[in-house]
Amino acid sequence: MIPHQTIESIFDASRIEEVVGDFVALKRRGSNLVGLCPFHNERTPSFHVSPTKGIYKCFGCGKAGNSVNFVMEHEKFTYPEALRYLAKKYHIDIQEEEESLEQVQEKTAREGLSAASEFAGKYFAEQLFQSDEGKSIGLSYFHERGFSDDTIRKFQLGYSQEEWDNFTKAALKNGYSLEMLEKTGLTIVKDGKQYDRFRGRVMFPIHSQAGKVIGFGGRIMSADKTKPKYVNSPESEIYNKSKVLYGIAFAKNAIAANDRCFLVEGYTDVISMHQAGIQNVVSSSGTSLTTDQIRLIKRYTSNITILYDGDPAGIKASFRGIDMILEQGMNVKVVLFPDGEDPDSFARTRRSIEVTEFIEHNSKDFIHFKIDLLLKETGSDPLKRVAVLKDFIESISLIPDRLTRLAYVKESAHQMQMDERAVLSELNKILRKKFTQRTGSSEEEAEIIEPPVEIEQAEQEDSFDKYSTEWQEKEIIRQLLLFGEEPIKIEFNNEETGKAEKLETKVAAFIIGDIKHDGITFSNAVYQKILEAGSKTLDETQDLDYKKLTNHPDAELTQAVIDLIATKYTFSPNWEKRKIRLAQEHEILDEHIPHCLLSFKAKRVRQVMREIEEKIKSAATVEEQIEWMAHYRKVQKAANLIDSGKLGRTIV
Ligand code: CTP
Ligand code: MN
Repeated sequence: MIPHQTIESIFDASRIEEVVGDFVALKRRGSNLVGLCPFHNERTPSFHVSPTKGIYKCFGCGKAGNSVNFVMEHEKFTYPEALRYLAKKYHIDIQEEEESLEQVQEKTAREGLSAASEFAGKYFAEQLFQSDEGKSIGLSYFHERGFSDDTIRKFQLGYSQEEWDNFTKAALKNGYSLEMLEKTGLTIVKDGKQYDRFRGRVMFPIHSQAGKVIGFGGRIMSADKTKPKYVNSPESEIYNKSKVLYGIAFAKNAIAANDRCFLVEGYTDVISMHQAGIQNVVSSSGTSLTTDQIRLIKRYTSNITILYDGDPAGIKASFRGIDMILEQGMNVKVVLFPDGEDPDSFARTRRSIEVTEFIEHNSKDFIHFKIDLLLKETGSDPLKRVAVLKDFIESISLIPDRLTRLAYVKESAHQMQMDERAVLSELNKILRKKFTQRTGSSEEEAEIIEPPVEIEQAEQEDSFDKYSTEWQEKEIIRQLLLFGEEPIKIEFNNEETGKAEKLETKVAAFIIGDIKHDGITFSNAVYQKILEAGSKTLDETQDLDYKKLTNHPDAELTQAVIDLIATKYTFSPNWEKRKIRLAQEHEILDEHIPHCLLSFKAKRVRQVMREIEEKIKSAATVEEQIEWMAHYRKVQKAANLIDSGKLGRTIV
């Protein structure tokens, strides 16, 4: 036992940047440090460390925590191991304290509860196989349900007799104290009388992850509709309902081996599936899933498949629980069983190969499944469709991984016949709102940390006028304003020598110089004005501080500048189909700026070609026509050069 105070001083001494810094190369960025995430593969750093907050967070894979969490995760340490590791690093002595009397008592109490529960498990099983009532009612019931004796023994199924206190008497006789029995909930003490909680029921023991009996579910045998079908153990010091899953002890190895966990509704579903040879299955026992239960599964796999019977109300009720699974970064699939069947009945009446194949062929991705189901209900009602959209975006926003989110947006927008960009912008709004709520940071910080997901350039361009350069112009001006003073290294073709050369300059000088050199103007008048004003500022001061442009006498210009710098991170298309993290925009200027310019020129040059085509068509004389055609070929050559990705006659 590490004393509480020592734990506190370990936490106090641990500097997150030092702890992480032992394993990850970190670079300072603003008040944070960033590096390549050690928990997933990445090439651009999205792993952030905040010394002031004492935490790390990867915006790629979602892993986050403090110093202790980091070494636990990274070194696969247990909590005490992590504490010892940090104590050693910071030269803190740990004097392990003796367990106090209280702790010893607590421990013995837990052991007592555990022993009583184990005894009960054995007792009920014995009743099932040996008592007349158990055999004639309980055992025959299980057999009727198709459970083999092996299965019954494996799950330690049992029977409690239709008597007031048979179990309690037997337990007391075997030396278990009434206090213990009451604490397990097996015995109820009321008005000085004691009686059994479970009477006249078949018994399903609930096992801990380690395989110890910690509670029970008892199913009624009589047809008495006034009594509940199942009676379950109350929570106790050893039985925490929200932390355990029925069947986990029997399933855990199979879950890890198959890298998948099947989630079903009830006790009998788990058992029938097992009997059909499918062992990686657990149940949340009729209640909605908790985060702790999800984490329990996550120790063994990040793939969950939920097996539903065909009841729509039940399915809809489960959506909230599934959102929690997504939130844990797990992949969720669902299988819908045919009407009137549940995993139990289905598995019981088919060979195991058929069950496996059915599951395989009918597994659907949860998000698509959910949209399908909701859309079926809404029909064509536009208001309801919006509600569905919101609901589903809410689900997607829970997925920690950006690329997974993006993939879902693309597919689902299609499925809902929605504009992808509209879905994305809605999603980004939610993400940012969540971020500000979660961290208390400003909108602007949120935009940096939760940068919008990009979509592919091609798709973006599709939805615009094919020849419009509006978007490219905007992006170039935006880069100019935001990163004008940043250094940039450009590779270009020296036209005189024909050799590739490197040019080191500043973003503003490069952009303005390049566009001037080519003699191109922007089609958007305001952007053109900003470009000219920027050029003037550059000449006068040798740098481009956009703040000066926010004070420009031209109101229209000023407004446009403010708009551009206020929405710091708007959609950036996916230049050359590569994923660019907008948060790291300034790290990729060397590539991004030339691409912006090339993309702009590629479109601009096509605009010019189209204009020339018109001229050729409408030329009054053949001579004029030939002249225009010669011109056309020149422009075409330039277009080819641009398409080849070279910034040719660039400034020197
Ligand atoms: N459940 C419960 N209390 C109830 C009803 C259900 O705790 N009154 C839980 C049990 O864990 C049960 C699960 O919810 O296993 C699913 O309920 P249901 O489908 O009604 O039970 P089955 O296990 O399918 O039982 P059976 O097939 O014998 O009716
Ligand atoms: Mn059932």
